[in-house]
Amino acid sequence: MGENNIQKVVITSDHSGVLLKKEIANYLTAKGYEVIVIGSQSGTAPDDYPDFVEPMANYVLNDKNMVGIAICGTGIGIGIAAAKIKGIYPALCSSPEVAFFARTHNDANVLVLGSRVTAKNTAYKIVDTFLETSFEGGRHKRRIDKIKNLEKKYGAI
Ligand code: RB5
Repeated sequence: MGENNIQKVVITSDHSGVLLKKEIANYLTAKGYEVIVIGSQSGTAPDDYPDFVEPMANYVLNDKNMVGIAICGTGIGIGIAAAKIKGIYPALCSSPEVAFFARTHNDANVLVLGSRVTAKNTAYKIVDTFLETSFEGGRHKRRIDKIKNLEKKYGAI
């Protein structure tokens, strides 16, 4: 596990993310993280990604030591849906480099992955980076505060 305080992960998906969700859950459990697996159990019958963000968001909002992982086919839909919930800052990451900046610069609290566009081994590296990297603060805090102002003015965006 990394040096920051993230020890707990809640991971959700729609039908298209079920396999990758299970693989990541096993991967993180083996590394010593506490992992809560929620969302679609289907894997075959199509379901709707907006249905699977609220329980994940509630875990993240109620525990500072927990981050979320949300998976759909591209990561786009479930990321858009998650961003509607106040206090949830999802980042769709396609590489460990992007995941690094999602944490250091953006303080994202939900990692979003696309199961149809990201290979399993790449996903593992992205997850590792996201969980082991801390927010840098400083000038980035100012920008996050501006996002929060937008949230206050318009609701979550
Ligand atoms: C489901 O077919 C697919 O649309 C969904 O998983 C996601 O990719 C949407 O953004």
